[in-house]
Amino acid sequence: MVDLPDDRHLNCIPPGVEYTKLQGSMSTYYVENQHPYGVKPEGNAFLASRELLNVRLNGLGRLKCLTDEVLLEILSYFNGPEIVNLIYTSKALYVYCHYTDIWRDIMLREWECNGQSYPIKYCYTWKDTYVSSYCERNKLTKPILPHQPLVVDGIYSNILYRSWACHEYNYEKSCQGFLTNDDIPHIEADKLNIEDFVVNYEAKNRPVVIKNCINDWNALSLWTRDYLIKHCGNNKFRATSSTAPIAASFTIEEYFSYANQSKEEVPYYLFERNYDHLASNLTNDYQVPRYFNTEAYNNQQRATDLFSLFGSRRPDYKWLIIGPKKSGSIFHIDPNQTNAYSPVHLLTYLLTYLLTYVLTRSLTHSLTYSLTHLLTNLLTFSLRWNAAIQGRKKWIFYPPGRNPPGVLTSSDLGDVTVPLSTGEWLLSFWKFHLEARNDSNPLNRPLETILNPGEVIFVPHSWWHMVINLDDCIALTHNYVSTSNLSDCLHFLREKTDQISGVRDRNTTDNTVQPEEMYSLFIQELRNNSTVDKEVVDIAVTKSYQVTGGSDDNGTGSTSSARGPSSVNKNKRKRKLTDKPTINSVKAVINDEPFVFNFDF
Ligand SMILES: [Fe+2]
Repeated sequence: MVDLPDDRHLNCIPPGVEYTKLQGSMSTYYVENQHPYGVKPEGNAFLASRELLNVRLNGLGRLKCLTDEVLLEILSYFNGPEIVNLIYTSKALYVYCHYTDIWRDIMLREWECNGQSYPIKYCYTWKDTYVSSYCERNKLTKPILPHQPLVVDGIYSNILYRSWACHEYNYEKSCQGFLTNDDIPHIEADKLNIEDFVVNYEAKNRPVVIKNCINDWNALSLWTRDYLIKHCGNNKFRATSSTAPIAASFTIEEYFSYANQSKEEVPYYLFERNYDHLASNLTNDYQVPRYFNTEAYNNQQRATDLFSLFGSRRPDYKWLIIGPKKSGSIFHIDPNQTNAYSPVHLLTYLLTYLLTYVLTRSLTHSLTYSLTHLLTNLLTFSLRWNAAIQGRKKWIFYPPGRNPPGVLTSSDLGDVTVPLSTGEWLLSFWKFHLEARNDSNPLNRPLETILNPGEVIFVPHSWWHMVINLDDCIALTHNYVSTSNLSDCLHFLREKTDQISGVRDRNTTDNTVQPEEMYSLFIQELRNNSTVDKEVVDIAVTKSYQVTGGSDDNGTGSTSSARGPSSVNKNKRKRKLTDKPTINSVKAVINDEPFVFNFDF
């Protein structure tokens, strides 16, 4: 790694730009390879010859006046054969037309038109998948080898480069302390009884990792790729990506094939709530850890999971999660309010939008994410546990009331703007995260840990958190409501019915409880059930009227789109091809040698 700055970098600074500002916005990261099509960040254009600059200018013809954002937006409207024709037009269009999101969306549109029973035969890349699918449909000879990218000199594009770099960069080398920072207690199950857990972690709303509490799970040894493929058969499992316009449905075999090959910034993340119906035998391979099954309160054993009182009408609360290395979920927290169409909320939205523009100079980015959070349904208030079955997971938490760097919110948390991907956040904001770790107030500091296979993490509510899979991962997660968060839960159910999710997209014929009736039914069940302490309920009800703010956290380790209802208007959730926030200044290092210098003003 080369320390910045030095004279070489100073030579890149245009007149009028203050050196100190530039230095302050710099970060350094490592990538293992060059961009497959030779794309470099726009800052390299400062050093480029006229001949290289003409590659784009001449290659795009009259389209040269368009920004990359607009150009890619236009290209996204073409179909496969039209894009193929454009590829042969010029070197510049060869590169732009190989942008992976274009081909992914073409395939998604094709599959969508083909109904929900389509087979997903992912083949090397989305473009190769399209070609393979096209050949199959038209009974042509399929290509055997994957497309081999040609390196083109002279394409300087932050959008193209950044999307690739967010997946390819080496976060272990780029992010100081990434694998070693660990602030969350890891406690052996035999040294943590239920009462201690409730008193020291659940009631205090602090995260904790519990080791060796699921040693008896058959899932730990059984849930391999082959086992899941065998037992899940041809049933389709839902997967989502925050950068993709719609969810996709894979068989487990299709998903593993896709995940093994994907090199996208945000690969599809399998996140299935109906896994017990799609592969019923899976539920025999694990049991809910004792910390979340019973509660030590006044030395009595009661049902901790109070939402279980809804019985079969209970909203969604458990998910099977499968994702490849480097997949994960960007910081998320569920806003505890929102009337999306009120004047106050719209004003808040506009202010957040403008603030985001000032900080990122990316209008489309802030617009898309503000709208996403305005229009995406939300989950109920809950605590959560997450068990790692295969693979390690990196968790980063920010305490309630403190936004992580790069996360912008309205004052009431009704409107949230976040980076698109975990890679983008690590690449852009890690240095600010390190500063936050040294906050003078320890209670304001973020917490980090790595969850190893066989460990369970308790995810408290109201904490921002981000999860990055360090390996190919399989995990289980449940949310629950206990006496520790009962008052907040009651407040949420009573006051925020428009934000309750996990029910709206369910088939109403299955008798699922609906948002408008959840509060009254929950109160009724709490009061009628003999295992529930009525005094505790009365106290919680009283406190629920005193709750004035805060927010809940669903702790799913998923993207927001993964949690949204399948019926939501996909256009409202579609990530624009343009919503790439700029990175102020980045030095990339390839194989320990400085490679490119990007100064985005
Ligand atoms: Fe989560």
